[in-house]
Amino acid sequence: MREGTVLVTGGVGYIGSHTVVELYSAGYRPIIADNLSNSSPVILEGISKIVGEKPIFERVDCANQKEVEALFINYPNIEYVIHFAAYKAVGESVEKPLLYYRNNLLSLINVLEQLEKRGRGSLIFSSSCTVYGNPDPKDLPIDESAPLRPASSPYGATKQMCEEILKDCAEAPHSKLNAISLRYFNPIGAHPSALIGELPQGEPQNLMPIVTQTATGERERVMVFGDDYNTPDGSCIRDYLAVTDLAKAHLAALKSLESAEERGSIQYFNLGTGRGLSVFEVLNSFMEANSIEIPYTVAPRRAGDVEQVWANPAKANRELKWSADTPLPEIMRSAYRWESRLKELPLKEG
Ligand code: UD1
Repeated sequence: MREGTVLVTGGVGYIGSHTVVELYSAGYRPIIADNLSNSSPVILEGISKIVGEKPIFERVDCANQKEVEALFINYPNIEYVIHFAAYKAVGESVEKPLLYYRNNLLSLINVLEQLEKRGRGSLIFSSSCTVYGNPDPKDLPIDESAPLRPASSPYGATKQMCEEILKDCAEAPHSKLNAISLRYFNPIGAHPSALIGELPQGEPQNLMPIVTQTATGERERVMVFGDDYNTPDGSCIRDYLAVTDLAKAHLAALKSLESAEERGSIQYFNLGTGRGLSVFEVLNSFMEANSIEIPYTVAPRRAGDVEQVWANPAKANRELKWSADTPLPEIMRSAYRWESRLKELPLKEG
C-alpha cells in the first residue's frame, strides 16, 4: 500500500470519487481533501463500502491558502496531486463569474504553491474539452493539437487559464513540476455497485442526469435542445465515456508521472471514446439498455451549445495505454441503477 503519497482534491466529487476507488484497487491509499460544497458524506460512505475501509479524508477548502498549507504540513509525503477541486456548472459560471474565477484559479494556485515550496511533486489537472471552444468541423475528431478557441463560459475560461498557469509553472526555469492536463469529454454513468455516482447540483443541466431523472419519474420528459443542427439526425453530438473509464485514466497518468525521468514538463491528453453520439442516440441507447420508455420533446437550441465535438483519443491510447471501452449499454444501466438508488439516500450536507 502506498499511503499518503497521492492527494486527491475534490475526491468526494463525481469523477474524484471514482478515481479514489481506482487508486485503492491499484494499491494506493490516497488523501482526500474536499470541502463537500458540492458533494455529500454519503459518497464518502460509498467509497468506504467499495474499498473496504474508511479513506483518509480532510475537510479542506482548497481555495483557502492557510488550509492548503496546513494540509501539506500534516501530510509531508505528498508527491502527487490529482486536482479535481473546482466548480463546474456552466450556467452558474455565467451568472457568477467571480465565484468561478476565485474558486477554480485559487485552488490550483494554492496547491501549486505548496508543491513549489517542497521543490518536488507532480500534478494531474481536471481539464475539459471545453478548452477547444466551438471547434471547426474540419478539426473533428479533436486531437490535442487542435486550436484552443474562445471559451463559451467563465467556467470554460477557468479551465483554459488553469492550463496556462500550469504550463507557465512547469516550464519556468529550474521548475521541478511535472504536470498532466486531462481534457475530459462527457463522463456519464456510475460505479457498477451503485454506491457512488453523480450527485445532482440542484436542478441538473447535463443530459444524463436529466435522462435518468425522467426514467425514475422525477421529471416528465427530456427536452432535446435542437433537432436542426447540421448533423445526421439534427441533434448535437458529444463523446460520452464511462466515468469509471475516465477514473482509470488518472491512474494511467499517475503511473506515467511516477516513471518520468525529466522534470519541468506539461502534457495534454484528450479523454474520450473517439465515438460521437447524438442526443437522440443517447436517448435510444438508454431506453434499449434499460428496457424503458422515456418521453421526450424537441425544444429550441440551448444558448452556447457546441454543435458537435468528439475526441481523437489516440494519444492517450498510445502513451497512457488507456482506452474508454466500457460498452454503452453497461454505462446506461449503471446510470439508471445509480439514479434509482439516489432517491433513497439521505443527501444532507455533513
Ligand atoms: C457542458 C459544457 C462542458 C462541461 C460540461 C460539464 C458547454 C459547451 N459544455 O457540456 O464544458 O465540461 O457541461 O458539466 O457548455 N441536452 C439536451 N437536453 C437537456 C440537456 C442537454 O438536449 O436537457 C443536450 C445538449 O444540448 C448537448 C448534450 O445534450 O448537446 C450534452 O449536454 P450536457 O450534458 O449539458 O453537456 P455539454 O453541453 O456537452
